[in-house]
Order: sequence, then structure tokens, then C-alpha cells
Amino acid sequence: MIAFVKLIHIAAVAIWVGGLIALPACHRRLGQLQARPRVQGGHEMDASEQRLRDAARFAYVAIVSPAAFVAVTTGIVLIFQGGVVDPWFAVKLAFIVVLVVAHSLAGQTTARLSGKGSAYPAWRYVGATGLAGAITLATVAVSLSKPSLDGVSIPPALREPGALKTIVERVIPWR
Ligand code: HEM
Repeated sequence: MIAFVKLIHIAAVAIWVGGLIALPACHRRLGQLQARPRVQGGHEMDASEQRLRDAARFAYVAIVSPAAFVAVTTGIVLIFQGGVVDPWFAVKLAFIVVLVVAHSLAGQTTARLSGKGSAYPAWRYVGATGLAGAITLATVAVSLSKPSLDGVSIPPALREPGALKTIVERVIPWR
């Protein structure tokens, strides 16, 4: 059973991160098409622009987002099946937070580029692709090598179950 859930987990993760790596290229091309000089008075999208916009939206809504959902839910199932509570898993979760932020930024960009005349500069394309690729590699490396992190000193408060409440209570101005 664990092997089956892990198979689904890895397949969903591959589709999810593959989408996060590929979507910026789509956004860049869409931004370039939108930046083209238009014929006088015309603001309509031409057929290729519309096809690319629809493909990006379809990919995000119907493929990448459901894959992200399956990756996260099967991951949660694996936590309980395997009783995973080691420190390397906290590192993996930190990387996943970055992937989730990249996912929501990709969604915002897909929506923004569906409008007229939006730009998507080259630095964003390179940055988004590089970040998604690097975090994916780091997450796979941590998941496969499961480093022990024994020599790394972790503050005791971060190892205590329920400690987040105490930490947050110390910094928030209201109670
Ligand atoms: C919220 C999201 C995620 C959760 C909760 C999660 C959780 C888990 C858990 C508990 C395992 C089993 C570990 C073990 O057998 O000791 C696992 C396996 C794995 N995960 Fe994730 N994961 C998530 C997302 C990801 C992502 C984004 C990647 C890669 C980019 C990834 C790659 C892997 C790989 C390669 C394995 C197989 C490790 C092995 O069998 O040695 N996971 N995941």
C-alpha cells in the first residue's frame, strides 16, 4: 500500500513541478505576443495568442493544480503511513512552502496575462524557471538522501510539539 501511494505521490509531484518549470516559458511567449505592435485601433488577440493563453490556463487549472493537490494529499498520507517525524522532513516542508508560493504566483501570472497588454520580462522568466528547477532538485535530494542533520543544532523550542503557540504569543502584540 505504501509503495502504491508513493508511486502516485511521485507521479503527481513530477507533473506539478514539471508544470511550474514549464509555465514561465509559456508566460514569456504570451508576454512577447502581447507586446507586439497592434494594427491601428486593434486590441484583439490573434489566433496564436489566444491558443497559447487558453493552453496556459488549461495547463494551470486542469493539470498542474490538481497534480499539486494530489502530491500534497498523498504526501500527507505517507507521513502517517511511515511515521515520518525526522528533522530532514522539516527541511523538505520548507522547500515545499517555496514551491507553493511559486505555484500561486504562476496562477496570478496566468490570470494577468489573460488580459490585454501585460508584460512578462525576461528576468522573471529566468528567475521563475531557475527557482522552480533549483527547489525541485533540492526537494528530491532531501527526500532521497534523508540527511540525519544530527550535527545541526536545532533550538529545543522548535523540536517541542505545540511550541509554535508559545513562540507566536511572545511576538504578537495582542493576546
Ligand atoms: C506537502 C507536500 C509533500 C509531502 C507532505 C510529502 C511527504 C512525503 C513523505 C512522508 C514521503 C515518504 C518518506 C519516507 O518514505 O521516508 C515522501 C516521499 C517522497 N517525496 Fe514527498 N512530500 C511532498 C512533496 C514532495 C515534493 C514537492 C517532492 C519533489 C519535488 C517530493 C519528492 C518525494 C520523493 C522523491 C519521495 C520518495 C522518497 C523515498 O522513497 O526514498 N515530495 N514524501
